[in-house]
Amino acid sequence: MNLKDYVANVPNFPKEGIQFKDITPLMADGEAYNFATSQMVEFAKAQNAELIVGPEARGFIFGCPVANELKIGFAPVRKPGKLPRETVSFNYDLEYGSNTLCMHKDAVKPGQRVLIVDDLLATGGTVEATIKIIEELGGIVVGCAFLIELVDLDGRKHLGNYDVFSLMQY
Ligand code: PRP
Repeated sequence: MNLKDYVANVPNFPKEGIQFKDITPLMADGEAYNFATSQMVEFAKAQNAELIVGPEARGFIFGCPVANELKIGFAPVRKPGKLPRETVSFNYDLEYGSNTLCMHKDAVKPGQRVLIVDDLLATGGTVEATIKIIEELGGIVVGCAFLIELVDLDGRKHLGNYDVFSLMQY
């Protein structure tokens, strides 16, 4: 199965000059969606993951089925003001402005083997912030799995020593 057949390229969204990768056709096709998450499950097994962590919102779409198939837990990474209990947060710079991501303080157990799952590796800012939070909580990041990697943006520069898995490269 060629997963790229299920990704729609949308020019000039959300801004002029950006080619948006729309993954909703892939999610709408049960076979393609299952094919994608099954491969992430195999990677998670190989890394002996004990917990899946996914950044909102599209990280939930891929992270939750992987966790559920493995009968392991899922912990969300969220934007500020969404998680109701005590959180740990990390702030990172964007081209214009900055972003903050948060996790519940008890979301990761010390020594727990954590796999990060998201739909997209672009600049790598999101995954880098996620790694920082997991490690602050005492977790061991055993890898990062993405549906799509935008190779030209070189997000891997933030991921030097981590095992990175991506199903499609553009
Ligand atoms: C997208 C995507 C990744 C992130 C990748 O999320 O789902 O989480 O950007 O970009 P980066 O590697 O440059 O950090 P977005 O912030 O658009 O949120 P959404 O999933 O809620 O749409």
